[in-house]
Amino acid sequence: MRNIYYTFISLIIILCINGCSKKSTPTNIYESEEYKSLSKKDIIIGESIWATSCFRCHRYGTNGAIVSENKEYWDKAAQKGIDALFKSVWEGYKGENGVMPAKGFCNLCDEHEIRKSVFYMFHLAKKAQAAQEKREQLKENAANR
Ligand code: HEC
Repeated sequence: MRNIYYTFISLIIILCINGCSKKSTPTNIYESEEYKSLSKKDIIIGESIWATSCFRCHRYGTNGAIVSENKEYWDKAAQKGIDALFKSVWEGYKGENGVMPAKGFCNLCDEHEIRKSVFYMFHLAKKAQAAQEKREQLKENAANR
């Protein structure tokens, strides 16, 4: 009887440790199921918010915001996971380079829309970084000719 009791207790402890460690390491946004299964509609909604609000700072790096081409910054931010990143945009965020206002200036946006704009920010970052890499390659090729 005692053995069963100890086995049961050990099992609960193991389950708790597993559960707790999972919580403390968020899923990288690029590896999340939600990012991988973004529909065309999700991207269009995210893009429309990005192009009317987020773009003001993130396109040219105004007010200390970081442009999409900065791979190092966005890859590092991606590790925070969607929940923390959503919170940063929804409530506002103070980084080393500047301050982002709550909802990134999209005052009429609801939670779903802000969430989609965050996913779009990372979707765009990948696209912009690929384009940047291509431009650099073309430049290199031209220089080596
Ligand atoms: C007024 C300028 C401004 C606008 C508008 C803006 N941002 Fe930002 N954003 C910033 C600044 C400044 C930072 C912090 C930079 C740093 O790390 O120092 C930031 C950081 C972020 C981060 C990283 C947060 C983190 O926790 O690491 C995300 C994601 C982000 N912005 C997404 C968005 C989205 C999505 C929108 C539009 C809904 C938006 N931003 C609009 C200025 C802006």
